[in-house]
Amino acid sequence: MIYGKRIRFRAPEREDLPMYTKWINDSEVRAGLNMFLPMSLASEEKWFEQMLEKPAEEHPMSIDVQEGKSWKLIGNCGLMFFNQRARTAEVGIMIGEKDYWDQGYGTEAMQLILRHGFNTLNLNSITLRVYETNPRAIRSYEKTGFVLDGRIRQSHFAEGKYVDTLFMSVLRDEWKDPDQSN
Ligand SMILES: CC(C)(COP(=O)(O)OP(=O)(O)OC[C@H]1O[C@@H](n2cnc3c(N)ncnc32)[C@H](O)[C@@H]1OP(=O)(O)O)[C@@H](O)C(=O)NCCC(=O)NCCS
Repeated sequence: MIYGKRIRFRAPEREDLPMYTKWINDSEVRAGLNMFLPMSLASEEKWFEQMLEKPAEEHPMSIDVQEGKSWKLIGNCGLMFFNQRARTAEVGIMIGEKDYWDQGYGTEAMQLILRHGFNTLNLNSITLRVYETNPRAIRSYEKTGFVLDGRIRQSHFAEGKYVDTLFMSVLRDEWKDPDQSN
């Protein structure tokens, strides 16, 4: 487990997959993701089995929020596309439980994964891609400390329109761990 103030990361279990599938099939959640077709539980299970064959640091983590003495699954996040020589990786996140949006959980999870990436995996930079049509995500990433590197114009197509993809990153040198006074 990796613990934050209100949340924890844990390895995903097969029992999480129905929730993952439910979130991906929610059009509001899916709008921020590079997915556009309904997803079956069977294909999610296949993805899970393939994921287990990958290096452990590339496995996604389930995000639980503490509620009293119990924990509730609200989303997942993970690092991918590791470049070992340049010490970079890309982060992805989904808070699938929409009742938990706009309460700082996405930002807290990003802070926690940055700490994991920089302090445990010894990364030098962490990048992400976000559609220009996702202001909630962009705001959350800015709060976490991501800065805009640039945009790939009209690189996504959704709802009948071309959409720019923004590239953002945090370098280890400029990262401020909110739990430390550095
Ligand atoms: C993007 C996501 C991870 C953000 O998580 P979250 O817990 O809702 O984010 P936070 O509460 O930490 O921050 C959201 C911020 O956006 C703001 N916001 C919400 N809607 C907004 C809008 N339409 N325009 C501008 N800001 C907006 C919130 O007010 C909040 O900022 P504040 O704290 O300054 O008030 C989550 O919404 C999600 O998983 N969405 C679906 C999947 C997705 O899009 N993933 C990202 C792919 S790149």
